[in-house]
Amino acid sequence: MRTQPEFPNLFILDHPLIQHKLTHMRNKERSTGGFRTLLREISLLMGYELTRDIPLTTERIETPLQPMDAPVILGKKLAVVPVLRAGLGMSAGLLELVPSAREGHIGLYRDHDTKQPHEYLVKLPPAEGRLFIVVDPMLATGNSAAHACDVLNRHGVDDHNIRFMALVAAPEGVRRFHESHPDVKVFTAALDSHLDENAYIVPGLGDAGDRMFGTK
Ligand code: URA
Repeated sequence: MRTQPEFPNLFILDHPLIQHKLTHMRNKERSTGGFRTLLREISLLMGYELTRDIPLTTERIETPLQPMDAPVILGKKLAVVPVLRAGLGMSAGLLELVPSAREGHIGLYRDHDTKQPHEYLVKLPPAEGRLFIVVDPMLATGNSAAHACDVLNRHGVDDHNIRFMALVAAPEGVRRFHESHPDVKVFTAALDSHLDENAYIVPGLGDAGDRMFGTK
């Protein structure tokens, strides 16, 4: 896991398996099915890193040999919140890793002219005592990411209880996101070069939703 002086709350997950799978996903020859499988697999690996420091407590259990105080995760079950629709590909992997997690959904669409996000669906589990992992593969302008965290704040979730997981991030998006939510840790597999004039990440991987669902 790497950090960068310019973005102290950005964590780049440089595990070789994550990097290898991301390269396969970037390749424009990758099939829809291959892209979807890789996104699920890479999310599981990223989730493993992202949850590395979540607090533990102990629970009294009995093994076949003797009682023991064994480690278990402290607090309520995690919540995974994909930003629709591309986030669904990442939540699938996280839910394999933490099957007991709750799943919320935030549906946003981007206004073509203003490029600003608008909500069309918000369904969330109760906030109290829960860590929320928001997932969206592409952290591009940062507007949707910031908006999704605004939604969680309105729902009663403090920024300290939110983590954001993106497959690929652009420096412009990380900057914009951290201006509005400086305490939310962002985990990504790659920090790419820049955004193009259509707000696509370069070199990126194209439109993550279209590649995952086989749409245009
Ligand atoms: N959304 C995508 O799917 N890809 C990008 O490059 C930027 C935003």
